[in-house]
Amino acid sequence: MPIHIPPITRRQFLKGSLAASASLLLPRRLWADEKPADPNTWALLSDTHIAGDRTKIAREVNLAEHFETVVREIVALPQRPAAVLVTGDCAFAKGEKADYATFAELAQPIRAAQIPLHLTPGNHDDRSHLRAAFAEAKATRRPSADRCIAMVRSPHANWFLLDSLDKVNSTPGVLGETQLKWLAETLDANPDKPAIVAAHHNPDNREKPSGLVDTVKLLEVILPRKQVKAYIYGHTHVWKAAQHDSGIHFINLPPTAYVFAKGMPAGWVLATLKPDGARLRLNCIDRAHLQHGQTVDLKWRA
Ligand SMILES: [Fe+2]
Repeated sequence: MPIHIPPITRRQFLKGSLAASASLLLPRRLWADEKPADPNTWALLSDTHIAGDRTKIAREVNLAEHFETVVREIVALPQRPAAVLVTGDCAFAKGEKADYATFAELAQPIRAAQIPLHLTPGNHDDRSHLRAAFAEAKATRRPSADRCIAMVRSPHANWFLLDSLDKVNSTPGVLGETQLKWLAETLDANPDKPAIVAAHHNPDNREKPSGLVDTVKLLEVILPRKQVKAYIYGHTHVWKAAQHDSGIHFINLPPTAYVFAKGMPAGWVLATLKPDGARLRLNCIDRAHLQHGQTVDLKWRA
């Protein structure tokens, strides 16, 4: 089952546990029927690392506050994005049930704003707890019995959401033969539209990888399939946009939670898709950060 979290109605939201406080924080015009949607923009987040305890501090960062800030910014956009994608490590460290309860509460305004939420598990997530936290998550299809994977269509690109979680709280990630076979077959069945592949783990060819263990096998699938234009991931907690020799863009999303090296940006990325590329805009939690507002224009390979 892919982890797609559908929007909720205003009534559901008001009945929710956060209603009393959160509804006061949301200007009335934010409700979906009063705000246009932009089918070509996606809000891209990674590594929220939400703990059950909202006061949890890690590396001098209040994790819940960072996610709240990002959610508020997304909901306040002049146009609703087509979706919010979180590329893993939604939970703090071990994917505990309490982590997802808090994550779900903090994500409520996104769902109330009628924005679909997609999650790809990371190494600090637990699939069964993640699924259980969003019991109403729509099971659109079941391409894999044990992984949360899906293809999501949008006007200018098909998104391939992969699941690289191997063992909970163990750093490296694995896609595996079954998932890679599904990816190849589904790409082959959808050759005409640009494809964006997203997962938690970074490509990593080293002998002892801390990223994606089967990077070579992933590249064997995506390099020759020319519709694949970008691979988007998190995991390293570093914001970086690079282009592989093949022309595929490798986009490392910043963490919303915390950075491993002081001075690096934490925040989220607004992606605006075009027929021949995409524009990425970095939104830093720290508005005074030198990279806040940085844009990167991606041109798709032929
Ligand atoms: Fe992480």
